[in-house]
Order: sequence, then C-alpha cells, then structure tokens
Amino acid sequence: MASVTDPSAPLLLTTVAELRGAADRVRAEGLTVGLVPTMGALHEGHLSLMRAAARRSDRVFTTIFVNPTQFGPNEDLEKYPRQLPRDLELCARAGAHAVFAPSRSEMYPEGESTRVTVSGLTDHLCGAGRPGHFQGVATVVTKLFAAAGPCVAVFGKKDYQQLKVIERLARDLLLPVQVIAAPIVRADDGLALSSRNAYLSGAERNQALALSRGLSLAGRRYASGERSVAALRALVLEQLEAASVRVEYATIADPETLEPLNDSELLAGPTLLALAGFVGNTRLIDNLVLGRDPDPLATLPEGAK
Ligand code: PAF
Repeated sequence: MASVTDPSAPLLLTTVAELRGAADRVRAEGLTVGLVPTMGALHEGHLSLMRAAARRSDRVFTTIFVNPTQFGPNEDLEKYPRQLPRDLELCARAGAHAVFAPSRSEMYPEGESTRVTVSGLTDHLCGAGRPGHFQGVATVVTKLFAAAGPCVAVFGKKDYQQLKVIERLARDLLLPVQVIAAPIVRADDGLALSSRNAYLSGAERNQALALSRGLSLAGRRYASGERSVAALRALVLEQLEAASVRVEYATIADPETLEPLNDSELLAGPTLLALAGFVGNTRLIDNLVLGRDPDPLATLPEGAK
C-alpha cells in the first residue's frame, strides 16, 4: 500500500484495517500521527484543526464519517451535507496526508451492540436536549481512537461539551491519545463556522449573528466587572430574543464539570457561557469562556459590535 507522505495527494483509506496499517507504518518510521475527526462538509474551521494537527504531529489523518448514532430520530442525518470529492481537495490543501472515509457498515458492523457512555458531563447543555447524542459521539470517537492508535487528536472548542466529553473518555479509558483543543473559527462578521450554516438563508444568517453578539456583549460586561449570572444571562437572552432566535439554552456553567450555575450565583473565575438556539429549522451553538477567551467580535470595529 502507498505510504502516507504526500500532503498534495492524501491517501484515501476506507477500511479500519487500512487506517490501522497506515498509522502503524507512520509510527514504525518513528513519526507521530495527528488525527482530525470530522463529519465532512469541511470549512475553514476544520482546516484550522488540520493545520493545528500538522503543527503537533508528523502525519495528519482526517476522518470523514457522518456518524448515524449521534443524530436523534428527528434530526438532520439524511440531509446532512455530504461532499466527499470537494472535502478531499480541501484536505489536500490543508496538508492532510491521509483521509479515512469509511462506510457505515465498516464503523458499525452487522450485529454490533456496544456503546460508550460518559456520565455526568453529558447531563447538561446539549446533552439535555439531544438524548443519546453524546453516546453516539463517544462511541464513534472511541472507535476512531482504537483504529488510529497512539496519536494527537484535535477537536474544536466550538463543540465545547463534545471536547470535554472526548477529553474525559480518553482519560477514563486510558487511551493513548492526547486530545488538543483548537480555538473557534469565526466568519468576518463573528458567526462561528459550522457545516450547518449552509442551511441558513441570507436573512437567517443575519439572525444567527445574535449568538456571537450576545457572547461578545456578555464578555465585555464581564471584563468591566459584572459577575452576576442573572445579569449576564439576561444580556444574552435579550439579544437572542430580539433576533427571534428560538433559545434552547443560554447557560453559565463550570468550564470543567459543565454544572450550570443558578441565576442567584456570582462568577468566581473563568466560567463557560454556552448557547444553543434555532434559527428557522437550523440548530446553532456557540460559546465563550468568560474571563479566558478573547472577544468573539474582536476583529469588528467598535461601532459594529
Ligand atoms: O464534531 C464532529 O464533527 C463530530 O461530532 C465527530 C467528533 C467527528 C464525531 O462524529
């Protein structure tokens, strides 16, 4: 089989045996493997994960698999954008050496019945509104880690709860994987990049800006001394409601345990502000760790925030 050396033409792998073999050969040469799991429909956010993996490892493996077990019965599994030829070109441009794009039966062979559950962390935020979602994520990521073997794996902070779940499962299951968190990538107007942004009409995209605007406002209010959970949440909710975003949650939570804080509490250190809401039929999420992350609208002129 070809070796994993040429980022201008990434090696396309479709079976677990091929992925395992290619990653083993990289390590046998004394080199390190960087893993970037994705569901495809790649955008600049994913490319930044691949570039982060390239800085921390010798050979970047991107995986592209729309994982059925993380979608609920009324979610967008069927319409989730699938565009492998375009994704392969983007992987080449971002410097991936190999792309693993398995079939559903390769990842979930006939008769399989094992699921990975991370308890506690998955009770809150998206876990509350999407039952089974994180079990699906944890299961497929554990399979990918098992197939790739020792590696550095890069995940975006946009899916903050997912990142925490994956850090926890790697640690709890003693997997030889170093999980790296990469910053959220935003469009020029502040919208966090997401494959689901492709579903938004022009008007909906404008509405969606309320998420980053709300986070930015709360971040600036925090920087000027506001510590009340109720006050910070009210600021964000006002933005979301004014833009007719159907709010699923606007939660202030411990950035490690993800335990929500009550409105009566005061923030005592860096704290997660996480948002989920629907613009039309599109579910969007965004977040900021108050007191730690930069202003999501840092690149916009003051008057445009
Ligand atoms: O973030 C994603 O794209 C997916 O949840 C992941 C981590 C690739 C698992 O399917």
